[in-house]
Amino acid sequence: MGMTILPLEEHIAAEVRGIEVGSPHSEETFAQLRRALYRHSVLVFHDQDISDEQQVAFTRGFGRLQVTMASDPYGGGGFINRIANVDEEGRLIPPRDKRSLYQSGNNLWHSDGSFKAVPLRASMLSAKVVPPRGGETEYASLRAAYAALPDARKVQLEGLVAEHSMAHSRAQIAPGLLTEAFRKETPPVRHVLVRAVPETGEKALYVGSYASHIIGWEREKGSALLKELLDWSTQPRFVYRHRWKTNDLVMWDNRSCLHRGRPWENGIYKRIMHRTTLAGDGPTVS
Ligand SMILES: [Fe+2]
Repeated sequence: MGMTILPLEEHIAAEVRGIEVGSPHSEETFAQLRRALYRHSVLVFHDQDISDEQQVAFTRGFGRLQVTMASDPYGGGGFINRIANVDEEGRLIPPRDKRSLYQSGNNLWHSDGSFKAVPLRASMLSAKVVPPRGGETEYASLRAAYAALPDARKVQLEGLVAEHSMAHSRAQIAPGLLTEAFRKETPPVRHVLVRAVPETGEKALYVGSYASHIIGWEREKGSALLKELLDWSTQPRFVYRHRWKTNDLVMWDNRSCLHRGRPWENGIYKRIMHRTTLAGDGPTVS
């Protein structure tokens, strides 16, 4: 059976059927999948019971992998980022624990790695354990959000640059959440506010919870603009909500969509996801 791609929402997300992610695939198949990713921003694969090695191999078919950060709370230097509310022994981490609070930053709308000078190109999550309710991931199309802006607004936004930082994101959760080492490893960076996806030339807004203000603007005015654009981009008409099932694999293009995790009863139910990421193409500002 050949591969089929079924759109899930008007502007964002498609389900891919007829492919076993854990098997090797031709360059032609990966080219088809890359095109689908650029077109839909989010690809959903169901029933993929894969090992970490298989996930890494599949991710590699799309490009160069990113290694996890040295100060990552779950250890750095590998290809798998474990996003889970359990510790190494499989015990639930209490919701008020710093590790839980740090991960709750994932519940703010963001694009993975926008706090880095070279942000992540794409991410892939494999669902190992999911709670019976809640814990969904929502995705918002930054391409559709940009395209729907009035022309005069598009002209105003051209050439603007925003500052992004991990500190700004985590300050919205709790002060003092970042360790000094992590803070040092993640100084503020700058990104263009309107970003073209190189493969398609389509423009996308580049906003999210890491973005604090606009360079060269009064701080409050810039923050207000970023908030307005974030609210605009995350309207229900631009959003796909993924309700996880065990062994779902979801891949997304960080350059053209935002995402956020939704809460669940994390003091009761386990949620374990394994993430791989693709390294970015380069800085967004020269
Ligand atoms: Fe994320």
